[in-house]
Amino acid sequence: MKTIKEIVESDTIKFILSGGKGGVGKTSCAGALAVLSAKRGLRTLVLSTDPAHSLSDSFAQDLSGGEPVPVKGFDNLWGMEIDTEKGMQEFQETLGSGAAGPDMQMASNLLGDMSGMSPPGSDEAMAFGKILEFIEDSSYDRVIFDTAPTGHTLKLLELPDLLDSWLGKVLTLRQRLGPMMAGLRSMLGGGGEQEETAWQMLQNTKDKIRMARIELSDPDTTQFVVVTIPEAMAVFETQRLLGSLNAWHIPASNIIINQLIPENLECKFCSSRRNMQQRNLRDIRDLFNDMNITEVPLFDNEIRGIEGLSELGAILNKG
Ligand SMILES: Nc1ncnc2c1ncn2[C@@H]1O[C@H](COP(=O)(O)OP(=O)(O)OP(=O)(O)O)[C@@H](O)[C@H]1O
Ligand SMILES: [Mg+2]
Repeated sequence: MKTIKEIVESDTIKFILSGGKGGVGKTSCAGALAVLSAKRGLRTLVLSTDPAHSLSDSFAQDLSGGEPVPVKGFDNLWGMEIDTEKGMQEFQETLGSGAAGPDMQMASNLLGDMSGMSPPGSDEAMAFGKILEFIEDSSYDRVIFDTAPTGHTLKLLELPDLLDSWLGKVLTLRQRLGPMMAGLRSMLGGGGEQEETAWQMLQNTKDKIRMARIELSDPDTTQFVVVTIPEAMAVFETQRLLGSLNAWHIPASNIIINQLIPENLECKFCSSRRNMQQRNLRDIRDLFNDMNITEVPLFDNEIRGIEGLSELGAILNKG
C-alpha cells in the first residue's frame, strides 16, 4: 500500500486522481501533487476534468483554453483545463464531415430505441476522451487529474464499462445487420470506405477503452487519492466514493484529511470546532484503518500559487 510520498517518488505511477466532495481541497491537492512531481524531475501535466474549473485560480495563472499550458517557473510542468464545449464542437464537426457513416448513426439510433441506451453524457465523455488520449501519449511521465466533486467523477469512472458495453452492442448490431446494410448501401449507391473507417474508429475506441481499464486498475500505474474534511457529511461521501472505486477496481490507498483546525485554547469557537473534527478524525481512522491517512491543517490563508501549493506539498510528502 503506497503512501503519498511513495506515489510521488514512484517511477511507474503515471496517473494520480484527486477526488472527493465539493470544496474539500481536491484542486489544491492535485496542484500540490503536480508541483511535487515536477520538482522530482518528472514531466508532469495537471489536468482539470471539472467543468467548473479552478485550476487557473489555484496556480494563479491562466491555464484555460483546452491545451496544456506551461506553468511559470518550471520547464517540466503543464496545466490544462478541459474545454468541454470546444471538444464537443470538434466531435460534432467530425460527425458532420461524414467521417462517421450513416449506418453507424442508424445503428446507434436503433440501439437507442431498442435498449434505451444512449451514448453517455458529454462532459464526462470529453474528460474520458482526454484520459484515453494521455494513456497513449508518452510526452508526460505523469498526469494528475483534478476531478469534479464525487457525483460527476463517479459518472466519469463508470464510463469505461458503459462505453465498452455500448460500443459492444453497436458493433454486434453492425455484424448482424451487416449484410442487410450492405444491400441497402448498394441499392442507394452510397457507403464505401468512409463508413468502414468509422466502424474501424469505433473498434479502435473500444480497444483503447480496454487498455484504459487495465491501466486504471493497476496500482503500479494509477492511484486515486481521496480528499476529505473531518465532518460527518464528508465522511459519508468518502465511504460511498471508496465503495465505488473498489467496485471499479480503481486503486486507492490514501485519504487526505484537510482543513484540520489547530489547537487554540483561547478561542472557544475554535476549540469546539476542533473537538468536533477530532471526533470525526477518530471515526475516519477506525472506518478506514486499512488506508494511509494524511492530516493537513487549515492554513491561516488560502492556498494559492506555486508557493502555497509547495507548502501543501511538503505536508503531503510527509504523510
Ligand atoms: N488546508 C487549507 N487551508 C486553508 N485553505 C484551504 C485549505 N485547503 C483548501 N483551502 C482553500 O479552500 C478553497 C477550496 O479548495 P479547493 O479549490 O482545492 O477545493 P475543491 O475540492 O477543488 O473545490 P471544488 O469542489 O469547488 O472543486 C480554496 O480557496 C483553497 O485555497
Ligand atoms: Mg476543484
